[in-house]
Amino acid sequence: MNTNSIPITLDGKVHPVPMGITVAAALSLRSDGTTRDSVQGERRAAFCGMGICQECRVLINGQRRLACQTLCASGMVVDTRSCGETP
Ligand code: FES
Repeated sequence: MNTNSIPITLDGKVHPVPMGITVAAALSLRSDGTTRDSVQGERRAAFCGMGICQECRVLINGQRRLACQTLCASGMVVDTRSCGETP
């Protein structure tokens, strides 16, 4: 990890990501880029990138947040597998 990167945990694995990027960007760099499961069980991913579509909902430090509107922070824990639709 260089001095311009910070560690975050994505679905249980620690990854270095560049400082100043959003969680949505980190997901596209360090995983398959998906963010959650739909009610039909399909994986979803960030679409609009500006807080409108809600497709990028993830759990960040245990709270539901929009990945495209959240900057990565050192030690942040992101969970894309537990933020499905609530019936
Ligand atoms: S990508 Fe649309 S709200 Fe985040």
